[in-house]
Amino acid sequence: MADRTAKIAVCGAGSVGSTVAYAALLRGLAGEIVLFDIATSLVNAQAIDLNDGAAFAPPTTIVGSDDPAACAGADIVVMTAGARQRPGQTRLDLAEENVGITRSVLGAVREVAPDAIYLVITNPCDVLTYAAIGFLDLPPGRVFGSGTVLDTARLRYLLSQRLHVSTRSVHALVAGEHGDSEIVLWSSANIGGVPLGAYDVEGRSIDPSEYDAIRETVANSAYKVIEGKGATNYAIGLATADIMSAVLRDEHRFLPVSTLFTGQYGISDVCLSAPCVVRRAGVAGPAELPLDGTDLAGLQASAQTLRKQIDLLGL
Ligand code: 2OP
Repeated sequence: MADRTAKIAVCGAGSVGSTVAYAALLRGLAGEIVLFDIATSLVNAQAIDLNDGAAFAPPTTIVGSDDPAACAGADIVVMTAGARQRPGQTRLDLAEENVGITRSVLGAVREVAPDAIYLVITNPCDVLTYAAIGFLDLPPGRVFGSGTVLDTARLRYLLSQRLHVSTRSVHALVAGEHGDSEIVLWSSANIGGVPLGAYDVEGRSIDPSEYDAIRETVANSAYKVIEGKGATNYAIGLATADIMSAVLRDEHRFLPVSTLFTGQYGISDVCLSAPCVVRRAGVAGPAELPLDGTDLAGLQASAQTLRKQIDLLGL
């Protein structure tokens, strides 16, 4: 059941923030959704547009504001504001600019929403999650990033198309950086319980020689979308609403969100994704899956890529 008293605050009213609000509205996740952005006319226009459609969605108060005070008392704060990737840029290229934006936006919102769960979407998601944990000064489990939830959805979609099965029967995870160094945890991938490597139904199977190409397709999906339409918004909007649902409905669901590692898989003091339990109190984990040597090495290499970035930024 949705918590109709819940309040969601979305920071950033661009294509990602407005789509997050739209997806949350359609799912009836909260009684109130606030869009906060310093671009006054943009945030007002987005709120009017969403309110104009409110008759077609579960009853929800939608507010647009250029004042962080509008986020007061939010149960969950979603950070989407920041410079967006331009064609040819990687997510990590945005780090310096977006650390500054995240610090000033979330710093202001934290003043009025000290009890909220903070969910970071802005890229580079893992680096910004790490930065936000540092300056928000909240328990690490209350600050986390969307991480590879979206990349995992991309993977499940690809595998479901290849094998002609529902995405719901594809149990496979992308872990590590939400970005170029992300990895697929092939050793635990299964289709309806059948290990992917052994799966062969009606002549449909995936040969391990194809794994690298599949990972590349997943990792490059955002680049393709950005080249064609300037930004990704629908899939990240839906992924974010799903994460918010796990929080606000206290689902205790395993999701590959980005969180602070404290020794798991031999990785410490960096944020990246592995399955975590997501519930009203925030995230617990990451859980330690029994990975084979290749997957473990890939995860550790991804952590190193992120660690270098954190060091470069002096976080
Ligand atoms: C995405 O993966 C760009 O991070 C954004 O869609």
